[in-house]
Amino acid sequence: MDATPGLSVMQIIRDGGVEELLALCGGCCSCATCHVHVAPEWFDRLPPRSRDECDLLDSSDFNAPTSRLSCQVLFDASLDGLTVTIAPEG
Ligand code: FES
Repeated sequence: MDATPGLSVMQIIRDGGVEELLALCGGCCSCATCHVHVAPEWFDRLPPRSRDECDLLDSSDFNAPTSRLSCQVLFDASLDGLTVTIAPEG
């Protein structure tokens, strides 16, 4: 999938036509419907999670060590090749 630096990973996924990623709050870090599991080899290369992001992820049944809210990850050239999987809802 092509990705534009400066956009969030959520926006890139949505712009790519992946409708399974609901992103209901539009990127305000208040819904957790943009939850993804980051490939382990990429996880440590991302900026750390904020407290709000952690709190929302904690409410998910599918929270995993590599979970992120994709609206909170801004894409840049250093993340070329980033691999994520959309987490199940819940
Ligand atoms: S889109 Fe709602 S928390 Fe990411």
